[in-house]
Amino acid sequence: MSDSSRTYLTTPIYYATGDPHIGHAYTTFLADTLARYHRQTGARVRFLTGTDEHGQKIQEEATRRGVEPQQLCDEMARRFKKAWEELDIEYDRFIRTTEDEHRQVVRSFLRRLHERDLIYRDTYRGWYCVHEERYWTEKDITPEGNCPDCHRPVREIEEQNYFFRMSRFQKDLIRHIEGHPGWIVPEVRRNEVLGFLQNPLSDLSISRPRHRVKWGIPLPFDEEHVTYVWVDALINYVTASGAIHPGRPAEGEGFDDVTGSWWPADLHLIGKDILTTHAVYWPTLLLGVGLPLPRRILAHGWWTVGRDKMSKSLGNVVDPLALRDEFGTDAVRWYLMREMPTGGDASYTPERFLIRYDELANVLGNLASRATSMIARYREGIVPAARGVGLAEEIESTLESFHRSMLALKLHEALGAAMDLARLGNGYVETREPWALAKDPDRADELDEVLASLHRGLVVLSALLFPVMPRKMRVLAQTLGLGGVPTLEDAIAMKLEGIRVSKGDPLFPKAEKVRAEVGRV
Ligand code: MSP
Repeated sequence: MSDSSRTYLTTPIYYATGDPHIGHAYTTFLADTLARYHRQTGARVRFLTGTDEHGQKIQEEATRRGVEPQQLCDEMARRFKKAWEELDIEYDRFIRTTEDEHRQVVRSFLRRLHERDLIYRDTYRGWYCVHEERYWTEKDITPEGNCPDCHRPVREIEEQNYFFRMSRFQKDLIRHIEGHPGWIVPEVRRNEVLGFLQNPLSDLSISRPRHRVKWGIPLPFDEEHVTYVWVDALINYVTASGAIHPGRPAEGEGFDDVTGSWWPADLHLIGKDILTTHAVYWPTLLLGVGLPLPRRILAHGWWTVGRDKMSKSLGNVVDPLALRDEFGTDAVRWYLMREMPTGGDASYTPERFLIRYDELANVLGNLASRATSMIARYREGIVPAARGVGLAEEIESTLESFHRSMLALKLHEALGAAMDLARLGNGYVETREPWALAKDPDRADELDEVLASLHRGLVVLSALLFPVMPRKMRVLAQTLGLGGVPTLEDAIAMKLEGIRVSKGDPLFPKAEKVRAEVGRV
């Protein structure tokens, strides 16, 4: 995010073949939390998500269900939108690759590559995994003849395809990665890509004959072939940026000048499973048409369930909506963002979920209820004037590490720093013992300071934690007597004395109530 006044963030577009699970929710929460964080600092933000709707996988799933592919896509796009709405995801644009605008942009993109002599026709011989929608060579597949990634059987194909001269861009790509150390994060993924690029890069098949795959975007220079779904899907990021205008030749198509559009993206958020497509195919395609490269790619880790991969066949897919019904949206958001070190892997277990939930109830919720009830009891609910802020240094250093971690995309650390401030707040209550101060009229000033400091700390926490828990932080801000969640600047500087707090229900009800049902989590 080199230009802090604007940020274009993207998630992968999810296959319109299955319901959203916590893996999809994780990437989308990351984007939503970052988008809210940047909006809060006054940046113009564009947050893009959507569904990937073409290709053999969709075509076969539609046949299996006995519906038209478009019907399947309409239904799945509806389900993803509904899930995101229920999980408080505030995207700016939901793209569907079957949209007319996208189809036109894909055709313009390919026409441009073709005009630049970067596409040729040849025979493709090799192996294909429909589930991953990707090719494998003989040496890649397992001895049993399965996909090395998902272990499903692969199919042997030999057919006429169009190829993109990806190999031409190998050196440029290596130079770019080496010249921009933070371009792919975390570093282990950057090294993985550089390792991959040590072998000669082959050209990329970008089409399927229509007699085999019907469900795709026809190539502009040969209507008997459709665009390979990964090429189609990656281009969504450019479509939604508004950089390319296929229907308006007078304005130029946009490839030579992206001014006024959102391109280039500031951050592509992806899972590590789709690193090669995003860090090799995509940048070489962009170099091919002459568009700038995205500014950063974050490849996050993988959620497992206990020790197992989450999969339909194992029947262990964790449904974020079921969790939400039990604990509320914000608890799910908190758990996923706080538990997984950004970039690393994490394992979902009901026990870990409850540990994270308890943190909300016993640390943050507890601090809020202690502070508001003491202000109610000792100062009739009015925040007193105070000479100093008892937690000033702690607040300052929390803010510093919070911002540093957010900008380094270490969200788990940023959230950890905020929760530590709440912990310090509880420690401050213990050491200052406001209940003892309240008994001594000579120490009224001290009590004022303690109460005002706790209130200030909570106001700051409501702003810090708003991006991850928007719903609960609105409630907290209200309880603290504010009209809404303040910006971070206001949270530190605004005058709070004289504000009336209220004593509401606990912010996070004790988990005991739900613990008995842990088997359902
Ligand atoms: N349609 C492609 C992406 C095209 S982007 C131009 C695709 N779709 S997907 O539905 O399979 O979603 C993949 C993404 O979902 C992963 O990259 C990751 O962001 C997220 N996750 C899916 N399962 C996951 C886990 N178990 N754990 C973490 N994230 C996972 O690939």
